[in-house]
Parts: sequence; C-alpha cells; structure tokens
Amino acid sequence: MTKDLLEYRKDFPLLEKEALAYLDNAATSQKPQCVLDAVMKYYQEDNANPMRGLYDLSVRATKVYEEARRKTAKYLNASRPEEIVFTRNASESLNLIAYSYGLDFIKEGDEILVGITEHHSNLLPWRMVAEKTGAKVKYIECQEDGSISEDYFKSLLSEKTKLVALTHLSNVIGRQYPVKRFIELAHQVGAVFVLDICQSMAHIKIDIQDLDADFAAFSGHKMFAPMGIGGLYGKYELLDKMSPFLRGGEMIETVTLEGQTYAEVPHKFEAGTVNAGGARGLSAAIDYIEKVGMENIAKREEELTRRALEGLKDYPYIKILGAKEAENHHGIISFAVEGVHPHDIAEILSHDGIAIRAGHHCAQPLLSHLGVRSSARASISFYNTEEEVDKFVKSVKSLRGKMGYDQ
Ligand code: ALA
Repeated sequence: MTKDLLEYRKDFPLLEKEALAYLDNAATSQKPQCVLDAVMKYYQEDNANPMRGLYDLSVRATKVYEEARRKTAKYLNASRPEEIVFTRNASESLNLIAYSYGLDFIKEGDEILVGITEHHSNLLPWRMVAEKTGAKVKYIECQEDGSISEDYFKSLLSEKTKLVALTHLSNVIGRQYPVKRFIELAHQVGAVFVLDICQSMAHIKIDIQDLDADFAAFSGHKMFAPMGIGGLYGKYELLDKMSPFLRGGEMIETVTLEGQTYAEVPHKFEAGTVNAGGARGLSAAIDYIEKVGMENIAKREEELTRRALEGLKDYPYIKILGAKEAENHHGIISFAVEGVHPHDIAEILSHDGIAIRAGHHCAQPLLSHLGVRSSARASISFYNTEEEVDKFVKSVKSLRGKMGYDQ
C-alpha cells in the first residue's frame, strides 16, 4: 500500500474503532469523517425544507441540495444537472424507470432483454412491466466465467427489443461488462439501455455521455455516502416525456379541482420532502472519491483482490465464482468451500473478526446459472489492508478443519 492511501483509512472512524476486517463493501461502504461531518453540518447550519421557503435558511437548504445534483451530474459527466433525479436508492430508481418509462412505452409483443447477472432490483421491475404490458422478458445469459460475448449479445437483439437492462459490474462476481459496445448495439435496433451502476460508481470512472446509456441507477451508500440517498441518471428528452412516478408535494406546477400540471424535470420525479442532508453527504462523498483519486482506488482494489486470489488459488476445496483473473473481479470474490455451507463460512469468519456476506446476494438467477444456491462473498475496498486480506485467506483455509474435516 502506498503511504498516502494507508493514511486515508484513518478517515473512517468505524474502521479505526472496530477490530473487524470489513470485507462487505459491495453491500455498503463505510463512511469517512468528512461525509459524517457534512451531514451533521447540514442539520446544524442549513436545515429547512428545500424549495419551499422564501427565507434565507430554506434558500440555503435548496442550494445544498441542488449543488449535490450539479456535483453528481459532473461526476458522471451528464450533459446537464437536470438529468440527475434523487431517489432513496437504486431499487427505487429502477422502479421509477419501470413504472414511468416501461409501462408507458413498452407494448404487447415487445421484448425486454435482462441480464441473468442482475440484482433482483434490475430484474423484478422488468418482469412487472412484462406482466402488465404483455411484453416478453428475454435473458442475457453469461458464461461460467461471467462473460457475455458481443456476438451472443447481438444475437438476442431484434427490432422487437425495446429495452435492455444490464449491470455495469456484477455485485456477485465483480465482472465488468463491455456496456459501451452493448449500448451501441442496442441503439442500432432502437432499444433504450438501462444500466445498473451501483457497484461501479465508486470503483470505475464513468462517463455516461461516452457510454451513451439512456438511464443509470445508483445508491449513495455504496460510494461512501449515507444510506437513503440514491439516484437516477436519465437522458433529458426521455425524462421529459415520462409521467411522474410518485405523486404529491413539490412535484406539481398547479393543482385545481379539475386536474394538475407537473413540475419540470427533475422535480416532477421528486415528490415529497427530499433528502437534503443525504444529498449533502453524497456531495462530500464525491469530493472524497475525487481527492483519493479513482485510479488510485481501482489500482489498490485490484492489488488486494489479486493478493486474495493468489492466497486462495492452491487451496483445493475452494471454488471461486466467475473469472480467474483479479482484473475481472473489481474487489468482489464470491466463493464456495466444499462441504461448508456459505452461512457457516460467514459465521466462522465472523468469529475470526472478518465481515463478509453469505447468501444469494439478491441475484438468485445468476447463482442458479452458475450451479450454486448460495455463496460466500468477500468484497474489498481501497481502505482494506494486506493484513486483512491475509487474515481472510487464512481463515478461509481453516474452515474445513473447524468443521471437522481432515483438512
Ligand atoms: N446489493 C447489495 C449487495 O450486493 C446489498 O450486497
């Protein structure tokens, strides 16, 4: 670890306090002090209901909120801030697209292509759209190493394809998909492309205009921001023609007894009091990522992933899901140990002071496709240390012994 990056670990109070190797970063990241301070500062100094009051304090609260939108748009290189809609999390963002775009623009006989790789949040909303419209969901399968070839992807597309939903980076196997090319191919048949950037947004530089995605969904809490703030990127012309998702306060222009008109994008999608404190935290998280440097983060995570995979590679009882190479894992290592249930793996590792996730990772179709019902998953962040990775490897190798096997 370079000296500088090691220094950044000290920014995370929980990591300093807790004697725990926290390797569950794909579930949620820890929060640096500057994010915690930013949220606190919002409530101590700027809190009022944004967009509602004409007094200074409310104007300040609005500024904080809109500044977060500008910052998020810049971070993703969206063409304008209005293309960012704040939500609670990525699940809400994906449901928003399904209800407000899918139900209105997908018709009977259309096809929706969904990755078998998807988190349930990028699968169930599309199944709902298919059930309600009479469209058909077709699955994009992956190879055993998690890859999806361009030729295969192309073979699934036709003039019937109206929407493609795929993750940028799998939350189970850490594989990054060549989405720029896939998006280009989807556009050639006139389909819109919905990208799940939950796992990539804090680990890979994203230029959303260059990728040319139509929609992208993310959660702040996986990128050092608080829980409860997430968002949606949508091309302005698409957002503009969509109906609101939730109806109520602040998303209208006028309401009479006869009807209503809606606010402009993005406000028509942000009904009710917004999460300005969370948005302030998201701003601080983006500043923080930019301070550490995305390249440094990615490099460091790959080094640690390589170390973990190297450490485990001579252990005959382990099966790593997905690719063999560290560069195709982006810090996420899902694995099975022969004869040991994933929940036992997680519990034993927990006794050894290591936090990992076990289960189906909200991606049951992918696990079935890869031939397992569940797996254990370690997920690394740049703030993890070599010692933590080595401790993890040692603990995994001791599992079978602890379960009463010879080895
Ligand atoms: N989606 C999160 C995960 O993969 C919760 O763990």
